[in-house]
Amino acid sequence: MNSNLHSDAPDNLIQVILHGIAKPAATDLGYMPAFKDSMTDGQVAELVAFLRGQFAPDKPVWNDVAATVGRIRQNIAR
Ligand code: HEM
Repeated sequence: MNSNLHSDAPDNLIQVILHGIAKPAATDLGYMPAFKDSMTDGQVAELVAFLRGQFAPDKPVWNDVAATVGRIRQNIAR
């Protein structure tokens, strides 16, 4: 887990959860499975809210996460 959790917007975290990491940026980094087919927008939103609260408790909660999940899901459905 990383700086995604401390960002102003949850978009990058959501992107990684939905898509996984198909092509690692470097050869010493691994692959991560996508969860877009196994989790609903609500489930992703719950997970994202939990991770934010757990690992960036000093930062404000992200708003409208479920809607953002829906938007990012649309953008990546290709
Ligand atoms: C719902 C569960 C999971 C969440 C929320 C999650 C979240 C994340 C996040 C936020 C990153 C960082 C991406 C970035 O650099 O921007 C990451 C990286 C990664 N994840 Fe996951 N992940 C999950 C499950 C898994 C599973 C099941 C696997 C493997 C079977 C996995 C393997 C990896 C790997 C290999 C990386 C790259 C790590 C590196 O930088 O070396 N993840 N994950």
